[in-house]
Amino acid sequence: MKTSAYYQEAYRPQFHFSPEEKWMNDPNGLVFNEGIYHLFYQYYPDDIVWGPMHWGHAVSTDMVHWEHKPIALYPDEHGLIFSGSAVVDKSNTSGFAKNGETPLVAAFTYHLMEGEKAGRKDFQTQGIAYSLDNGESWAKYEGNPVIGNNGIKDFRDPKVFWHQDTQSWIMALVAGDHAKFYSSPNLKDWTHISDFGKTHGAHGGVWECPDLFQLQVEGSDEQQWVLIISINPGAPNGGSGTQYFIGDFDGVKFTTDQKEPKWLDYGTDNYAGVTYNNTPNGERIFIGWMSNWDYARDTPTEKWRSAMTLPRNLSLRKIGDDYWLANSPLEAVSGLATSVLVENFEVAGGETKNLQIEGLQQSKIAFGTASKNFKITLGNELGETLVLKMDPKDNSLVLDRMNSGKVQFQTEFGNKKHRAPLNQLKDGHFNVSLYLDWCSIEVFVDDGLFAITDQIFPTVPYNQLTIENEDTEKAIQNVTIKKMESVW
Ligand code: FRU
Repeated sequence: MKTSAYYQEAYRPQFHFSPEEKWMNDPNGLVFNEGIYHLFYQYYPDDIVWGPMHWGHAVSTDMVHWEHKPIALYPDEHGLIFSGSAVVDKSNTSGFAKNGETPLVAAFTYHLMEGEKAGRKDFQTQGIAYSLDNGESWAKYEGNPVIGNNGIKDFRDPKVFWHQDTQSWIMALVAGDHAKFYSSPNLKDWTHISDFGKTHGAHGGVWECPDLFQLQVEGSDEQQWVLIISINPGAPNGGSGTQYFIGDFDGVKFTTDQKEPKWLDYGTDNYAGVTYNNTPNGERIFIGWMSNWDYARDTPTEKWRSAMTLPRNLSLRKIGDDYWLANSPLEAVSGLATSVLVENFEVAGGETKNLQIEGLQQSKIAFGTASKNFKITLGNELGETLVLKMDPKDNSLVLDRMNSGKVQFQTEFGNKKHRAPLNQLKDGHFNVSLYLDWCSIEVFVDDGLFAITDQIFPTVPYNQLTIENEDTEKAIQNVTIKKMESVW
């Protein structure tokens, strides 16, 4: 029930999605259908630490205001309900619709605790469920599991999409150190068609939550395929992170020349992110879980645990001969930045500006510059600081939350700076935007060519902003700070 205290607890995100109560992890089943964006998520309704997984559910028409819905999928005799995806089965290939409805079909992983406890390796299988009323109610398929397991310990997180050229459903899933692809005419019968990745990318941990889609290169007709793979541990700044590969998918195999991983976000709090199926204009909209398995269970909130990242639009940029995935918040997010707190000032070369700003903790800070040598400090009267520094000496952007507030709850949380190498940042003008909510910061540079997403837990809100421009010539221009509206 909504009261005046609704979503007012300490650290409650004001413009990010978080569950009303209890534990949440990965976004699941991201699909748009009949005017509604569905957000399902890994959910444990009985505690604020991970436990037997369900699919929680919320809906939105604009991706920033969310309505909470009842739990969509409960564990059953095949196991707990781990991560997965959802599709709109427009031609009823599954046959689930009997009276002309359009089925939504969810594909997920069953995790059988009894199997795991008995030391078996085949306890993860894939199942499907369907809804004939646009996600209001769900039924599991009686033929589950649709993909069994012949002894692969980590075998999970199916992402399904419709592949136009082969007129078939394709499923990407992960199997420990690689991805597997399957194809199906009806979402029920699946054939294994190929594998990818044993000798590609990062392998410091287990591969999780794949996503595969085609994307147009900005400013051209060229198309490339993108494979997103979460990995835990093994991210560049520790713990959980998201790598991606650019290549080709011919309906059977994913191929790429890329051997080294590329990273979607250099913060430590953007994990298990995947994209929406069936968006209205083919946009590629991404949402990640804003936490990290290193400390997700220990963060200092009491009623609920964790939030999702802002919904982000993915685009592909060609720089020289190479391709990079950019991610930046949807237009609808900018629409929440309404009242101006401080407008349009400049920090000239060599200059420092100090400002006291009430409302800073729930704001968007944006500017443009050609200076690659600056330092932005957010702080409060307790001397807690969050520092973002662009440093030309090692060509990097560094976010330092080591003294940002509560950091002691787990050693990995505050023990290092988070560094993004800026190799592909061109010379000349670029933009920077920072979204600050009560327990997170998201930094985007050059229209999302670089992103850093971090949780933060200041003891009292930040209300001081210092911008030091250490480039002696190039100004930091049009600095504007706007309050972000609460969506709750
Ligand atoms: C990723 C993950 C998935 C799994 C789910 C379980 O964070 O480990 O691989 O399906 O969480 O909750």
